[in-house]
Amino acid sequence: MNKKTLQQTDPEIKQALMKEEARQELGLEMIPSENFVSKAVMEAMGSVMTNKYSEGYPKKRYYGGNEYIDEAEMLAVERAKKLFNVAHANVQPYSGSPANAAVYIALCKAGDHVMGQSLPDGGHLTHGWKTSFSGLFFNAVQYHVKPNGYIDMEEAKKLAEQHRPKLIWVGASAYVREFPFKELAEIADSVGAYLAADIAHIAGLIIAGVHPSPSEHAHIITTTTHKTLRGPRGAMIMVTEKGLQKDPELAKKIDSAVFPGLQGGPHDHTTAAIAAALQEAAQPEFRQYAEQIVKNAKALAQELMANGLKLVSNGTDNHLMLVDLTPIEKGHGVFAQDALEAAGITCNKNTIPQDPSSPFYPSGIRLGTPALTTRGMKEKEMQQIAGWIAAAIKETEQYKLPEDKEERKELLAKFRAEIKENEALKGIRAEVKEMCMKFPLYKD
Ligand SMILES: Cc1ncc(COP(=O)(O)O)c(C=O)c1O
Repeated sequence: MNKKTLQQTDPEIKQALMKEEARQELGLEMIPSENFVSKAVMEAMGSVMTNKYSEGYPKKRYYGGNEYIDEAEMLAVERAKKLFNVAHANVQPYSGSPANAAVYIALCKAGDHVMGQSLPDGGHLTHGWKTSFSGLFFNAVQYHVKPNGYIDMEEAKKLAEQHRPKLIWVGASAYVREFPFKELAEIADSVGAYLAADIAHIAGLIIAGVHPSPSEHAHIITTTTHKTLRGPRGAMIMVTEKGLQKDPELAKKIDSAVFPGLQGGPHDHTTAAIAAALQEAAQPEFRQYAEQIVKNAKALAQELMANGLKLVSNGTDNHLMLVDLTPIEKGHGVFAQDALEAAGITCNKNTIPQDPSSPFYPSGIRLGTPALTTRGMKEKEMQQIAGWIAAAIKETEQYKLPEDKEERKELLAKFRAEIKENEALKGIRAEVKEMCMKFPLYKD
C-alpha cells in the first residue's frame, strides 16, 4: 500500500489543488450554482467509501461487503424523503444531467413529445434543448418567459394542448422568479402528462421554506445536491405521493432507469456525503442560511440597480439575478465576466430572455449569493460588492463585440491583455481580497 502523501507522489496535482484552494479563499464566488461544502461533507467525500462497488440498491446488491454502504445509502434516502416530503428517493444519480436522463428512460420512448423551459430563457439543457440528448432523442417543445421575466403560462398551456407531451419539466438554471408549480401541474394534469420539477437550483431554499415546494404538485422531483443544498456533486430523483397515485410502479421505474437503465455502480462516497449534507440541511441553522441567501440576493439586486445596472425582471425572488447588459451592447456578457474575474469576482456570462445575441456571446451575466452567504457575508457586504461589480463593468464599456469572427478574436485578445493591466480592476481585486480574508472558508 502506497502511504505517501499527494505532495510526495504528485506535486503538480498538489500544487493545482493548493492554487484552487487559494482562489476560492481569496475571491468572491458568485456563480449561483456553486457553493462550499462543510469539512464534514468533504470528509465523507474523501473517504474509504470510494473503494466500494455496490451495483443495485440497499439489501439487494450484486456484490458482497455492502453492509455499511447500505447503512449510508438508507440514511441518505430516509433523510431526503423527510426533508422534501416525498414517498421515494433515489440518491444514486451521478449528477443532475444523468438524473434527468433517467427520468426520460423511466417515462418516455425515443420520439415522444416532451416539454420544458427554453435554454436561452433560463431552462436547462436536459429539458429538451436541441443539442442535448433530450432534444436529440425526443420531440421537444419549449416554452419561454415573457419580457417581464415570468414564464409565459399561456404559451405553455397552448403548447401542451397542441403537442400533448408525455413529460413536462418545470425548473431552470437562470430563472429569477418563483416557479409556478401549481399552475404547470394543472396543465400537466389536463393533458395527462407527468410533471417533473427540477429543483437543482432551489433545493436548499425549498427545505428552508423560502421557496414553495413542488411535492404536492409534481409527480417527480429531481435535484442536484451541490448547489443551494450545499452537498457534494451528485443528484437525487424523488417520487411524490401524487406520482405514486398516477402510477404505483413509478418508484420502481425510476430505480430501474437509474440502474441498470443508465448507470452502473453508485458513487458510495458521494452517497455518504449526500447523507451528511442532508443532515446539515435538517438543522435550524440551515434554515437561517437559506433565508439569508435570499435576503442577500434581494439586497444585491437592489444595489446593482441603484448603481445603474439593468436586471431581468427588475429583481429576484430567489438566490440569483441576471444583469441585462444590452444598454451597453448586445453580446456584452463575455466582457463583463472577464473583467469581473480580473477583479476577483467569479460569475458567468448568460443569455437573457429574448437575447438579441447568441448563447456563445450572450448579453447578460448571472450572479448568485449561495456561496457568499456560506462565508457569512450579509447585506452590508452585498452593498459593497454591488458597487465593485458596477465599477468593474464600467471598465468594459468602451469594448464592443465586432460581427466579423476574425475581428472579434483580435478584439477579445486585446481586451484580455488590457484588463490584466487595468488599475481600477486591480484596485477592486485588492479590496475583494481584503474582504475575503475577513470571511475565511477552510482556513481556521
Ligand atoms: C436546473 C438544472 N438541472 C440540472 C442541472 C445539471 O446538473 P449537472 O451539471 O450536475 O449535470 C443543472 C446544472 O446546472 C441545473 O441548473
